[in-house]
Amino acid sequence: MNITKFRQSKEVLYLKSYTLENGAKAFVFGDPVETGIIRAERTEAELDHGLNLETLNGHIFIRWTMHPKDIVYGLGSQLGGINKRGRVYESYCTDDPIHTEDKSALYASHNFFILSGKVKTGYFIDFPSRVLYDVGFTMIDNFRIEVFGTDMVLYVIEGSDEEEIVRKFHQLIGRSYVPPKWGFGYFQSRWGYKTQEDVLKVCETFREKEIPLEGVYLDLDYMENFKDFSLSKERFPDLPRITMELKEKGIYIIPIIDAGVKIEQGYDIYEEGLEGNHFVRTAEGEPYVAAVWPGKVHFPDFMREETREWFGSKYKFLTDMGIEGIWNDMNEPAIFYDESELEFAIQASQDSRSKNLGVEPFFKLKDLYKNIANREKYYRTFYHDYRGKSVVNDEIHNLYGYYMTKSANQGLRKLLGGKRFVLLSRASHIGMHKYSGIWTGDNASWWAHLELNVKQMPSINMAGFYYVGADTGGFGGSSNGELLVRWMQFSIFTPLLRNHSAIGNVNQEPYVFGEQITEYNRRLIRARYMLLPYLYSEYMKAVNDGLMMFKPLSFECRDKEALDSEDQLYLGNELMLAPVTGANLSSRLVYLPEEMAEVSFSEEAVTLKTVGMGNRRLEYGLSDLKFFIRKNRLLPYVAPAMTTKDLDIGTLHMVGYVDDVAEYILYDDDGISCDHEAGIHVETRVRVTRKEDDYHVDVENDNPKIKRISLNITDSRNRSIHKDVSLS
Ligand code: GLC
Repeated sequence: MNITKFRQSKEVLYLKSYTLENGAKAFVFGDPVETGIIRAERTEAELDHGLNLETLNGHIFIRWTMHPKDIVYGLGSQLGGINKRGRVYESYCTDDPIHTEDKSALYASHNFFILSGKVKTGYFIDFPSRVLYDVGFTMIDNFRIEVFGTDMVLYVIEGSDEEEIVRKFHQLIGRSYVPPKWGFGYFQSRWGYKTQEDVLKVCETFREKEIPLEGVYLDLDYMENFKDFSLSKERFPDLPRITMELKEKGIYIIPIIDAGVKIEQGYDIYEEGLEGNHFVRTAEGEPYVAAVWPGKVHFPDFMREETREWFGSKYKFLTDMGIEGIWNDMNEPAIFYDESELEFAIQASQDSRSKNLGVEPFFKLKDLYKNIANREKYYRTFYHDYRGKSVVNDEIHNLYGYYMTKSANQGLRKLLGGKRFVLLSRASHIGMHKYSGIWTGDNASWWAHLELNVKQMPSINMAGFYYVGADTGGFGGSSNGELLVRWMQFSIFTPLLRNHSAIGNVNQEPYVFGEQITEYNRRLIRARYMLLPYLYSEYMKAVNDGLMMFKPLSFECRDKEALDSEDQLYLGNELMLAPVTGANLSSRLVYLPEEMAEVSFSEEAVTLKTVGMGNRRLEYGLSDLKFFIRKNRLLPYVAPAMTTKDLDIGTLHMVGYVDDVAEYILYDDDGISCDHEAGIHVETRVRVTRKEDDYHVDVENDNPKIKRISLNITDSRNRSIHKDVSLS
């Protein structure tokens, strides 16, 4: 086979520069792989990138000397802080289930960051293979990027502040994926719901305990021998019927689909794949064999349009059952082992039999197995057909999950006739945000991972992804009641709210840790449904206008405390979140960059108490849901319901902390169709104006579902006034 390589090892950079329509600049180095992520109009211009940049041994290096006060934001779902300084990060989509401090590469490649000092500049490295970021790790003031190639496009985005830079970047990469409204409900998941009875039992228990439930994710257990688009006749014989019956009740089933296709004679997907030339190939032109859950598999070549169409059409097997949501997994792609490496390890073990192994040979032998998964070299042994050329995976590695998800998105769009669907992917690359949401992968039931979840949200938003959440309660290891409740206190604000855990751990449904914890979780999940109109409205505004849904405090406030803040976030323009992320705490230190009202939120009562600016130690018990409303802002909410289908927004409640004037515009749409893409929606504009000891309320409403607005306004002296406005 004739293999053309994109990457050319030239030491002299061939550079062209362009101005884009929104003022951003593009610097094209060499002959980059066309990723198609940015399609903005561009005009060739003589520009200077002004960077310290060089090539060495076929790699590009970019360096900055950072001022001690400079902050680096971004890099999406990487580990580390909101401020990325002090660590090394790698963009090379990797299935690594153990997210410890020493890890640099996880599932995503999100090459957007902002260097924020006296001047603030955003950078996007459009390059589909490995990029390494040493952000002041080796040398405290040195920021060094190594791009593993000489062909890339570097986008430079200037702006007066971080939010403007993000907005401009999002204009370039395009609008994010929007799930149906039901995608904002509460989802239960577990690898290890082994039978349809297990799933039904879970649904029943939620109902019995009066805990809202919008759907259940089905992990590998539903498949026959881990085969994509198959059903275990033994364990899930009635899935089509069950799916429809549950959907009637507003409960959706969301099955998993993995990247690897099991090699098995007679298995339709495998046979069609071979026939249609749909699998990635070795240098010799044979379908590449790797091993994942089902044992030996072939990987569909999602880089090829025909393959995307073929695989995308296969979701029909699931949509025919009434399924409207899918999660794509193991699409880095994850490889447990490749045949030759396993063979080598087995041979080495046999050769070691009866030998007296000392430290070195013993560790060598052990590592042959320990490090056998996802070895870098695997990704240099199989090839894609990308834009008419044969390209080794390593060179476009980070696009694999992206294209798998594009295939699913396009398939589902066709199959569901324009209805919205839930779609998640584990691997991701900037640009994929147009097709699906992501979850943050295999976290653990550790307090540190709850803390990490808080830090990740704004960085992921910067990368263009909004439909995001973590495995609430933690995936690996066993969770417990306290951790789950604390996690839920944060997750009820994230667009994707899913409790998921790995097989073998204790169960972690909201009702398994005793009556008290069940009660706390019930209240929290019900509170999520109460806040849903607001969360949906903020989601849509962020997506439509390229805003951040979750923002670091430092994007708005330049106080030392805000600049250092790593565990508090703004949500939309109204709220500040300060979750508790540690064990055995009944209070926490909160920094208030301005005067706000502390809210204690539950269906029994929503109470507001004003708190002055500065550092405060505030009570935050396990039984509570606390957050803060900013001054002169309003927060809408409704009565809770068991599913989004049953949510009644006839009476829209609003609490506010108002001294002068406050306004909130509630965005709403049908939540099902793709009409929102054409801007079709309704708005309810509520404006509250202080008039001496009273308030004047103005409402402009074109949402026919809202009939009444019930306001509770508090001012800085903690005086409360209630107002009812009938809209009929
Ligand atoms: C991967 C996924 C996880 C899933 C498991 C089994 O580890 O990240 O969410 O439960 O595979 O399918």
